[in-house]
Amino acid sequence: MPDPVDDHELACAVKGLRATRRFAPEPVGRAEIRHVLEAARWTGSARNRQPWRFVVVHDRDLLGRLSRLGGYAGHLAGAPVAILLAVDATLSRDDAEFDAGRCAQNIMLAAAAQGLGSCPASFFPAANADRVAPLVGLDEPWRIRTAISLGHPATAPAPLPGRSALPSGRLSLDELVTEIP
Ligand SMILES: Cc1cc2nc3c(=O)[nH]c(=O)nc-3n(C[C@H](O)[C@H](O)[C@H](O)COP(=O)(O)O)c2cc1C
Repeated sequence: MPDPVDDHELACAVKGLRATRRFAPEPVGRAEIRHVLEAARWTGSARNRQPWRFVVVHDRDLLGRLSRLGGYAGHLAGAPVAILLAVDATLSRDDAEFDAGRCAQNIMLAAAAQGLGSCPASFFPAANADRVAPLVGLDEPWRIRTAISLGHPATAPAPLPGRSALPSGRLSLDELVTEIP
């Protein structure tokens, strides 16, 4: 029987996970990064191919360059550390991108469990994504479309007036679910 307390904690962790794009300057400890990488390593993948490698970037100059490789990657410039998710491009039609999404979610949940904030950054268009692996010394078959910023969340600023360009919250279960009895 699953422990209902653990079950509740897991549901709260999943529902409470929000994108954090502003970070305090405080560094992230080696043990915390290691814990996050362990969660990534244990992600399941199709045929247990583990079609990923993880590149941990602390270098401020490199984070700045990466932050300019996509319209929404800007938060990388202010993150104390980022984990780049390299995926085997020869397997990308073969579930590898799905696997990588699971891996990214595990990274973010493991970070949140330690009080860290995180946010994905997508490198796009494709020409930008193609630049990332060579920048960090990875060759074919590795391709990096996603990085995840990690850090201690900055103290929240006062909310800006007006609405965000992105919708917040989620669709209701009524909108999402079809049940076939
Ligand atoms: C596949 C994927 C790519 C994303 N890429 C970016 C990105 O490039 N930049 C960014 O700031 N947020 C990115 N996000 C974060 C989403 O914008 C965020 O999860 C969504 O707006 C919901 O916000 P919330 O998780 O805080 O509720 C990405 C999320 C996913 C799942």
